[in-house]
Amino acid sequence: MSADTPRLGIHTTAIHAGEAPDPTTGALVPPLHLATTYHLGSAEHGAAIFAGEQEAYVYSRWANPTVATFERKAAALEHGEAALATASGMAADLVGPPDGSRAATHIAAAKAIYPSTYHLIVTQLASLGIASTFVDAADPATIEGSDTTRHEVIYLETPGNPLLSLCDLDACSEIGRRRSITTICDNTFATPVNQRPSTTASTSSSTAPRSTFAGMADAVGGS
Ligand SMILES: Cc1ncc(COP(=O)(O)O)c(C=O)c1O
Repeated sequence: MSADTPRLGIHTTAIHAGEAPDPTTGALVPPLHLATTYHLGSAEHGAAIFAGEQEAYVYSRWANPTVATFERKAAALEHGEAALATASGMAADLVGPPDGSRAATHIAAAKAIYPSTYHLIVTQLASLGIASTFVDAADPATIEGSDTTRHEVIYLETPGNPLLSLCDLDACSEIGRRRSITTICDNTFATPVNQRPSTTASTSSSTAPRSTFAGMADAVGGS
């Protein structure tokens, strides 16, 4: 959706975005697609798909209509260009930094973040060769003052879980924009109802839909 397209309200978006009545059955609730593999039609059609000339569902690990519906809805709620579904919020936090910087070697992360994310940064990301510096993101000057020329990613969470620490998302993202580095914000706590980091310059957003989409803690996922 472009910036000047009239937007639906958050409630309408949450209910309707990314889905339509099922064309085969008319079902209003999107059916769950459990197939692993999809019919390619003809050999020619299959060849065109594998050559990247046509898009189609082939194998569920690559793309799946149910997951695609979730991704369209997540993107619409965030006013983002696109979303990538992950199996959990931590998986979203894991793929974000390497993807945000392509060949990340350094991440500047807010000090007061979800403890598992802290652990992820200092263990898993470190084992992938991504070093980290923890900054007091409540004071954007500390990001500015740290050696951001070395950083390929600024990682924020506002409000942070569990300390409810806040940072000025616009000011921190502006530092990232000026330095042409990606700013990532975990938006699990705020949810797109309250803020949309994806609309801030050079910022991508990750969420754990357990809280965002399924407030009753009955689903695990990420985007
Ligand atoms: C802020 C925040 N980020 C990430 C996560 C991780 O999400 P998940 O448990 O789906 O991996 C959580 C989970 O509570 C969270 O609160």
